[in-house]
Amino acid sequence: MKVTVVGAGAVGASCAEYIAIKDFASEVVLIDIKEGFAEGKAMDLMQTASLNSFDTKITGTTNDYSKTAGSDVAVITSGIPRKPGMTREELISTNAGIVKSVAENLIKHSPNVIIIVVSNPMDTMTYLAHQATGLPKNRIIGMGGALDSARFKYRLSEALGCPASDVDGMVIGGHSDTGMIPLTRLATRNSVPVSEFLDNDKMEYVKAETKVGGATLTKLLGTSAWYAPGAAVSAMVQAIGCDTQKMFPCSCLLEGEYGLTDICIGVPAIIGKNGIEKIVEIDLNDAEKTNLEESAAAVRKTNGLI
Ligand code: LAC
Repeated sequence: MKVTVVGAGAVGASCAEYIAIKDFASEVVLIDIKEGFAEGKAMDLMQTASLNSFDTKITGTTNDYSKTAGSDVAVITSGIPRKPGMTREELISTNAGIVKSVAENLIKHSPNVIIIVVSNPMDTMTYLAHQATGLPKNRIIGMGGALDSARFKYRLSEALGCPASDVDGMVIGGHSDTGMIPLTRLATRNSVPVSEFLDNDKMEYVKAETKVGGATLTKLLGTSAWYAPGAAVSAMVQAIGCDTQKMFPCSCLLEGEYGLTDICIGVPAIIGKNGIEKIVEIDLNDAEKTNLEESAAAVRKTNGLI
């Protein structure tokens, strides 16, 4: 499979690196507007091939979309990341124009491409990519929930004092500090509800730290995080490339599911060779339903700014 990663910054390069290390794609094209940057990152990554034992061919290009032609999957990471103290929503005026033109350029050269949107504010950028391209709803996916769920599992494992591989859990809703909904009620440690091990205070702490997971890192790093975002998006690319039918919470265009229409927001979905194979509707309790409605209202407000 051929994968294009738009934006050779930290998230884009991490994504390309993880894809290469997992060695399931024949080709990754990194594209960036900064002269020589994608070419440099690609060359640096290719010089790890013999050390990390992968055969994926990584190339870089400065804004030449003809090099992306025939991509099966494209990841959009372009735009500016947030700085400490900023919300993802504050990036909209800069990132909306960039994401729109990137999406248009991608489908010009790869009419069958499946697009994964990482740029923030992610749910609104996913919605914008739909508007800009008119692609069927299965072929545009927003990455947020996969990342937020990984951060949730990290916080749960920390609170439980166990490895993250012992923990299962997911985050639905908007990819924002206030919009995320960590589903603690359904989280488990090796099939046992985490409520068996964690009291309410600990559960609230896990929830709160999960929601500000990105902001905490932005404060520590001075810019937005990249390892976990890169790993989350590469896992989704792998699910498409290898047709794994794996379930990820991710931003999907909803047409009545969860009582929501004409909005992209995080819900569980099965990911396979066609992109979103199926949106999974789980039974939410009243509090979770209210949280999702509030989260959707906030995403709609941001959508109103494009
Ligand atoms: C984060 C960015 C990618 O949460 O939104 O780190």
